[in-house]
Amino acid sequence: MKVGLGVTGCIAAYKAVEVMRGLQKAGLTVQVILTGSARRFIAPLTFEALSGQPVITGMFRLGMNRSIEHIQLAQEIRLLAVVPATANILAKFAQGIADDFLSTLYLSCPAPVLLAPAMNVEMWRHPATCRNVEILRERGHFFVDPEIGSLACGLEGAGKLAGVDRIVAAILAALHPGESMKALKVLVTAGPTVEDIDPVRFLSNRSSGKMGFAVAQAASQRGAEVFLVSGPTRLSPPPGVHTTEVRTSAEMKAAVLSLYPRMDIVVKAAAVADYRPAEFSEKKIKKDHAPAVLSLVPTDDILAQLGALKNEQVLVGFAAETGDLLAQARRKLVRKNLDIIVANDVSSGVFGSDISTITALSSGGETLTIENRSKLEIAHQILDLALRVRAARSGAAAGS
Ligand code: CTP
Repeated sequence: MKVGLGVTGCIAAYKAVEVMRGLQKAGLTVQVILTGSARRFIAPLTFEALSGQPVITGMFRLGMNRSIEHIQLAQEIRLLAVVPATANILAKFAQGIADDFLSTLYLSCPAPVLLAPAMNVEMWRHPATCRNVEILRERGHFFVDPEIGSLACGLEGAGKLAGVDRIVAAILAALHPGESMKALKVLVTAGPTVEDIDPVRFLSNRSSGKMGFAVAQAASQRGAEVFLVSGPTRLSPPPGVHTTEVRTSAEMKAAVLSLYPRMDIVVKAAAVADYRPAEFSEKKIKKDHAPAVLSLVPTDDILAQLGALKNEQVLVGFAAETGDLLAQARRKLVRKNLDIIVANDVSSGVFGSDISTITALSSGGETLTIENRSKLEIAHQILDLALRVRAARSGAAAGS
């Protein structure tokens, strides 16, 4: 199986050599493409000597028709990865500018695309880069987001190329997305809920929605029909996913209950408010008349209701805890009649991160711990576990 590995001009370009070696060890044929500025940081010979394969370095070369070569390569590769991806290449891909071999290959390539950005912290958080990343995520491209660390420019912050192992694992996961989920219907909830106090103020929580969106993306990638019910987030729904945007826990409950009977697998990653204000004030509450104590009433536990109504569905809940993680999670697994609970420790600021550590427990006794992996990889493993629960259930039904 052949993959394209684009390398762009950044101090981390040398790490692409290790990524290439990791992919080769996994049995892949790697065609390296170096941009003009990448060649200022690393010589083509380094890649050629270690891979034994010629490296593509430019669009035009005497005796070679590269404008046809990129079309041929675009058809041969099963994935195009760019490691490291500079702000410049993200901008070119987002806007469809094709002025060198790599950007021309990108436009002519039907294969999935994975990008591992690396750049200065200000460049990574510049609105122009943020917008380009958003466009590329909307297109369904995979990202291995940069890590926080000390950067070559002397600054500290996000922008450091992700670890080589993470990048290799993400490329392999994108190439082998796991067991097909064609013909399955999957419902995912994501994000926080928002409970209004008055037209200005509300109660909510820190959930970014990234875990739920990753589950929706992973299931959709495997061919499932995916329904995403999401509270307010800053994320774009993965392409091809039916998305319902909600605000309050009551709206989430209504959307989820109407879809539930038709679903095969339900993953409730949303951080639903447990309480809402007892009253909503139509008018902004003035400081002078503000109550010293805000009265709250409990919301309905949607997941517990789904557990009570459960038929054939595999029901997956989440448990966000700050202590006594597994004991609390086990209690929720039983109390809410779940098939799987995914427990994560939220005491150390995991909200908004692209990486997480979880322990998933199944009602059949399986325990799965995944440490410091991308939320997309975790999502795939949760789906694998849900498929095992489903298979065991239908095996048991066939045997009885
Ligand atoms: N959940 C839900 N409806 C609620 C509250 C939670 O469906 N009103 C779901 C969440 O989507 C999650 C699971 O229940 O899948 C666990 O949420 P969590 O906040 O960890 O636990 P709670 O059951 O709310 O219990 P506690 O706050 O006491 O830990």
